[in-house]
Amino acid sequence: MNHSIAICPGSFDPVTYGHLDIIRRAANLFDRLIVVVASNPAKQCSFTPEERIAMIRKCIPDLSHVEAVRYDGLLADYAAQCGAGVIIKGLRAMSDFEYEFQMALTNKKLNPNVETLFLTTATQNMYLSSSMVKQIAGMGGDISSFVPEEIRPDILQRIYKKPT
Ligand code: PNS
Repeated sequence: MNHSIAICPGSFDPVTYGHLDIIRRAANLFDRLIVVVASNPAKQCSFTPEERIAMIRKCIPDLSHVEAVRYDGLLADYAAQCGAGVIIKGLRAMSDFEYEFQMALTNKKLNPNVETLFLTTATQNMYLSSSMVKQIAGMGGDISSFVPEEIRPDILQRIYKKPT
């Protein structure tokens, strides 16, 4: 098993500074990092997987060993397929823990060769979530503290609704 390949999965709808902090820190730890735009059946996304991938790529042009891909199946299967030994997840607060713990144990059951590694979020991103970003953007608020400049127009174009 090659532990120098890691995958960093999520919905990334859209990617935020919180995700990007985790991606950059994980990129320092592995030879190859694959950011996987995966499907979460519990979520109704605002952006297509391709749009989410494009936004991720726009934010990390400097990271040549990091790629962003779409995968619609089970993460455990994708890890086996690409030879990843590690799944990277970010933890913001205790409220994330139960859900993430359940996913880590399930993925371990489905693919015993894969380990889930948790990185704790940077304190300034603890409260940050894609859904908050969308809510603020939808009401014309300032999202500059939450997402990089490169993707702000993409988000506003899709999400902002002029009040009637
Ligand atoms: O950013 P999210 O929505 O919290 O990420 C959740 C995600 C996409 C990582 C999770 O739903 C997932 O792994 N989806 C792929 C399907 C899968 O493997 N499901 C079983 C996980 S226990």
